[in-house]
Order: sequence, then structure tokens, then C-alpha cells
Amino acid sequence: MKRVLLIIGGGIAAYKCLDLIRRLAERGIAVRCVMTKAAQEFITPLAVGAVSNERVATELFDLEGEREIGHIRLAREADLVVVAPATADLLARMAQGYANDLATAVLLATRAPVLAAPAMNPAMWTHRATKRNVRQLEADGVQFIGPNAGEMAEKGEAGVGRMAEVAELVTRIEALLTADGKEGGFGFLNVSTARSARPASSPLPLAGRHVLVTSGPTHEPIDPVRYIANRSSGKQGHALAVAARRLGARVTLISGPVQLPDPEGVEVRHVETAREMLEAVEAALPADVAVFAAAVADWRVAMPGAGKIKKAAGAAPPALVLVENPDILRTIAKRGARRPALVIGFAAETQDVVAYATAKRKAKGIDWIVANDVSEKSGVFGGDRNRVHLITADEVEDWPDMDKAEVADALLRRAGDYLAQSRESV
Ligand SMILES: Cc1cc2nc3c(=O)[nH]c(=O)nc-3n(C[C@H](O)[C@H](O)[C@H](O)COP(=O)(O)O)c2cc1C
Repeated sequence: MKRVLLIIGGGIAAYKCLDLIRRLAERGIAVRCVMTKAAQEFITPLAVGAVSNERVATELFDLEGEREIGHIRLAREADLVVVAPATADLLARMAQGYANDLATAVLLATRAPVLAAPAMNPAMWTHRATKRNVRQLEADGVQFIGPNAGEMAEKGEAGVGRMAEVAELVTRIEALLTADGKEGGFGFLNVSTARSARPASSPLPLAGRHVLVTSGPTHEPIDPVRYIANRSSGKQGHALAVAARRLGARVTLISGPVQLPDPEGVEVRHVETAREMLEAVEAALPADVAVFAAAVADWRVAMPGAGKIKKAAGAAPPALVLVENPDILRTIAKRGARRPALVIGFAAETQDVVAYATAKRKAKGIDWIVANDVSEKSGVFGGDRNRVHLITADEVEDWPDMDKAEVADALLRRAGDYLAQSRESV
């Protein structure tokens, strides 16, 4: 029987743990619980003990507990440690390697993989300090699920910060317990060894990775009411963000204006212009993989009108002077130490697709380019299917006609394999 050690932190989402314990028990997974002092303000050890059918551990200095089952045994006897809700405070203590209460002492002593499910107010989640702690923990091999976007417990508040749903947690926990249980360990495990040992066929090949995706068109203003745009729907970019999330990554999606909902569990930044998109991309670094699927306008209007440009009777139409936009792909590919390990571009062409894309890959200094035919006859813009060519430094692969979600899944699985192999060769 697989054994999960569930560390319950002090957040409103703690109540979801009662359901989580039940759902895991239904699947034959034994759950032992540790509650922080703050967690006990939200749910009682009595309730947790009743659903888990085990004595709940709460104190580090509990002599009776130490004789029965001390913190080292708690740490050692788990196949997986789950921290839910992972509060901002608990993440900070974990990132620093604290061991000043039972939860952190167990986390420091365990050799098992650790999965954290953060839950907090969106302002806390996006705070630089929390971001720094999450990056540190990811580098240490801790895996993350969520947080998701949605309504907060605080009235009228919404954003990214909701704990992942119980069903999502159960799916991820089951996957981790079956995927040889040793991916991305924490504590005594050497992280690079743990990652390179991950099988290419892992169900979560992007676990512990940060994937950045751009999607949609950009809008370049002519005046406050008019703009230059293109026909990109964002469907392929958004499918990439969804696929990366499903494959275990933490995902930042930077989206131009699209008619699509924000994908669940993905941190989304909405932008309009190419310059805003570049700024958002820079702010989201570092990332392990960056996929640039947005159709960024090459040019913008040099001097957009401050007010609506008026049509005057008899006057000639205004001449639009265009200037070049920043080249996001080239800029990020040449970012030195902050360059993502794998930079993937998309090339939308209407003729000589492969030849143009091959030249573009070299000129921009990117690793892979996905070339697609966006001529009217292809139906790619706005459609649900895509026929692409994957161009790497070594070869050109012609992929069959696929659903955009299938293209996304296949591409990101390849990215996961690439990262695992490049770790092995270090
Ligand atoms: C009503 C209330 C709700 C809270 N909800 C959260 C939360 O959802 N996420 C969070 O990070 N902190 C939340 N906090 C703050 C934590 O309880 C506090 O930082 C505590 O020190 C966390 O301790 P722990 O990490 O040991 O569980 C909340 C506090 C209160 C009073």
C-alpha cells in the first residue's frame, strides 16, 4: 500500500483536505497527516484523525509521539509528501530549510518526492518574495500543483491563488505514486540525479519546470479606437499552455487580445502590443522552456494619434508611418544567463514554409521552430487543426495533420525529453 504524508498548512483551503483524504483512501492510498499550528485554527485534528483513521501529528516536541512515531519516521515512511494548502509562510520556511516545527522538520528530513499545492491571496502569490521562494523550491526539486485562477474566499477577490481542486490533486498524486516515486525529490536527494533519472515516458515529463508561452495576436494602436492586428486566434498558443500544465509544468501564458477563456491553473498575463508582450516575457523569466506562438506584429504606427483621427471632408487619408517592433524571439534567445534552456518559435508562412522557417531558426538563434502554413486554403488561422513541420538544428520533421491540442501535447512531450536528455549529458 502506498503511503502519503499530508502536511496541512494554515489556510482557508485546509477544509478541502478532509475530502482529499477520503478520495485517496477510496483509492487504497494510506494518508498520515501532520497539521501546522495555524492549520488547527481552520480544521481540527479530531476531524482529520477521524477521516484518515490515524493519529494526527501536530507537535515536534511530543515525547509520546517521538516514542511512537517521531518526525524522522514520519519523513521516512512516506512514498510522497504532499503540502496542502502550502501557505506563503510555509513555502518561505521550506525555501530557507527551516525545521522549527513538525511540518518543516519532516520536510527537511524526507527523501520522498514533495508535492506542494499553494493557496493564498493573489497578491501574496504574485509577491516577489513568494515567487523567489517558489523558484528556489522548484530548483530544489519540489513539485507544484496550482494555484488555479478563480474566486477567493475573501469577498469580491479573484485571481490566481485558489488551491488546486481535490480531483486534480488526486490525479497528480496517483501519477506521482506510480511514476517510480522518485521524480524530483527534496532533501537528501541530489536533484540533478533525480531529474535525469526521470524516464522519458514519465506521465509528467515537465514536472518541476517553468514553461512560458506567448499566444494570440498583438494590437498596435493607430489612435485610441483603431489598431493594426492579424488573424491569430490564440488557439494554438492556449493549447500549448494547457498541455504544458497537464504535463506537470508551472505555466505562464502571455496572451495578446483573444476570444478565449484563461486556461485553468495557468498564470495569465494579458497584453496588447508587441512592446508590452516583450516586457511581460522578460518579467516572467527565468523559464526552462519558452514557446513563442504569438503572432507578434512586425511593425507599429510610429506616432499613434492621441485622440481619434478625424475624417475631414476633402482631406487626403492620413499616411501611416510604421516602425519596427522589438523582435521578442531574437531578444530572448540572446538573453545570456537568463535564456531559457529550450527556446521554441512558431513561423506562420503562406509560401515556402519550410525554407523560410529554417532560415528564421538560424537567424534568430532559437533551438526549434514549428512551421505552419497559414495561407487561406490551410484554414489554420482560427481553425482547430494544424499541420506543422518541426525544424531543429539536425532535421526537419513533417508532422501529420493534427488537432491543435495534439500538436501542443506532442511538442511539449518532446521538450520534456529534450530537457531530461540535456541534464543527463551535463
Ligand atoms: C482567516 C485567515 C486565512 C488565511 N488564509 C491563508 C491562505 O489561504 N494562504 C496563506 O498563505 N496564508 C493564509 N493565512 C495566513 C497564515 O495562516 C499564516 O501565515 C500562518 O503563519 C501560516 O502558518 P503555517 O504555514 O505554519 O500553516 C490566513 C490567515 C487567516 C487569519
